[in-house]
Amino acid sequence: MGGHGTATRRWTSAEVPDQRGRTVVITGANSGLGFETAQVFAQRGATVVLACRNPDRSADAEARIIAKAPTAKVSTLQLRHPAASLLPLRAAPEP
Ligand SMILES: NC(=O)c1ccc[n+]([C@@H]2O[C@H](COP(=O)([O-])OP(=O)(O)OC[C@H]3O[C@@H](n4cnc5c(N)ncnc54)[C@H](OP(=O)(O)O)[C@@H]3O)[C@@H](O)[C@H]2O)c1
Repeated sequence: MGGHGTATRRWTSAEVPDQRGRTVVITGANSGLGFETAQVFAQRGATVVLACRNPDRSADAEARIIAKAPTAKVSTLQLRHPAASLLPLRAAPEP
């Protein structure tokens, strides 16, 4: 087992438990940390909403997630302006 105060083993996304029944909304989900997070949640069964500014980039991210997990429940929600980025969340659909 791991020792105290010393990283003896790396945590990986394989350890993320079942996320079925949960809905997650992820901003910045078309690249980087946001995309990787969205992908893992989708692969674990969560309903994932990619909240992004650029529709082309978010559609591409959605396609990449579906390509790896064809049964993933993923959709996109376009954020119209960074200054109003939280407002569209109120119109997010029910899962
Ligand atoms: N990567 C790392 O190792 C690391 C480590 C520590 C901290 N961080 C921090 O974590 C955050 C994400 O990093 P990342 O590497 O994943 O970056 P990234 O690949 O550049 O992704 C940034 C994401 O945020 C979106 N975004 C940027 N500005 C926005 C705004 N004003 N309103 C709405 N969406 C916006 C981008 O969307 P668009 O496509 O529309 O631009 C993109 O989807 C950054 O703040 C970074 O400084 C990263």
